[in-house]
Amino acid sequence: MFDVTAIRKDFPILSRKVNGKALVYLDNAATSQKPRQVIDAIVSYYSHYNANIHRGVHALSQEATDAYETARRKIQSHFGIAKPHEVILTSGTTHSINIVANGFSSILSPGDEIIVSQLEHHSNIVPWQMLCKATGAVLKVIPMNQEGGLNMDAYQELLCSKTKLVFVNHISNTLGTINPIEFMTQQAHRVGAAILIDGAQSCSHIKPDLVALDCDFYVTSAHKMCGPTGIGMLYGKEAWLEKLPPFQGGGEMIDQVTFEQTTYAGLPHKFEAGTPNVCGGIAFGAAIDYLNTIGFKAIAAHETTLLNYATEKLLAIDGLKIYGTTKEKTSVISFNIEGIHPYDIGSIVDKLGIAVRTGQHCTQPIMDFFNISGTVRASFAFYNTLEEIDLLTAAVEKAKMMLS
Ligand code: ALA
Repeated sequence: MFDVTAIRKDFPILSRKVNGKALVYLDNAATSQKPRQVIDAIVSYYSHYNANIHRGVHALSQEATDAYETARRKIQSHFGIAKPHEVILTSGTTHSINIVANGFSSILSPGDEIIVSQLEHHSNIVPWQMLCKATGAVLKVIPMNQEGGLNMDAYQELLCSKTKLVFVNHISNTLGTINPIEFMTQQAHRVGAAILIDGAQSCSHIKPDLVALDCDFYVTSAHKMCGPTGIGMLYGKEAWLEKLPPFQGGGEMIDQVTFEQTTYAGLPHKFEAGTPNVCGGIAFGAAIDYLNTIGFKAIAAHETTLLNYATEKLLAIDGLKIYGTTKEKTSVISFNIEGIHPYDIGSIVDKLGIAVRTGQHCTQPIMDFFNISGTVRASFAFYNTLEEIDLLTAAVEKAKMMLS
């Protein structure tokens, strides 16, 4: 039984006020809020067993190491990953992408092709542009359509024997589009290319099975799924992770060090140089436990209700246009009202205690496609309510009245 009132009690921040009004937090695509269970895991770590890991024989170090490695196994199991050492703990999605991009700089040759989509976040565009510059590889782009979906015919035409890598997000942070990653993975493999799936926006909505999906890399951030900032994951198939060179040099990623030569540690340590975010890793595990207690089926059902209700209510406002109208879509609504700057709407609804994001959402190519400077984006999580959508709608109507 999904009880949103009970769930909201797990999140201390949801009972605060902003500008004298009850907080309505609708910026979940930027970051999710944290339940007491995750906050408690952080407090418990620093109160009882803070220590460096993989390095000490003393009790605290061993307790912290056990907790960190237990979290790695929780992450492995949650994402349907075959082996724990295929889970690399990173500082987040951007770090994970850069590990792969850096690794491929020693593999690509001039004229090789890599494919991204027009729906990508800047973090899934810029590293590949840098990689192309360094290697002479060529960047190709899968075009989007007016609904905010990707053109799969164009994708299949772009794929050829020169394609070495494909990068696509599972869900667009700006439009909420759910991309057909199963099909895209099969097609990439048809021409012998590897595929990286950016799961930063899907991890809070969909529990993937990465072995079944058969993608080569998958990246995500804990803070999008009720965990802390500064911790995320790179999944890579073992054979790929063995093949890619390390991204950073430092302690813990080595086997033997002399001034003549260094040999590297095995997986996952080869990609985890330096003292890791121990507390973050443990809290990432706590976030996964929490979400699984609620259940991803129940989360998806509630979020679909929120999406449908919010779409209907907002579209009833005269002059309001929603960007991102594909059938396969998650609980993100990007919109504008004719003649009004998104920033002005965002500022007025903030005065009423409502948090939305305004601007380009780190996706300038999507803005260019629609020929707009930005949007207002409301993104819903499982702890949001229909009443909060009523408050959003009333606030947007008020903003429209004040600004027209
Ligand atoms: N990528 C995050 C967002 O979409 C920050 O807001």
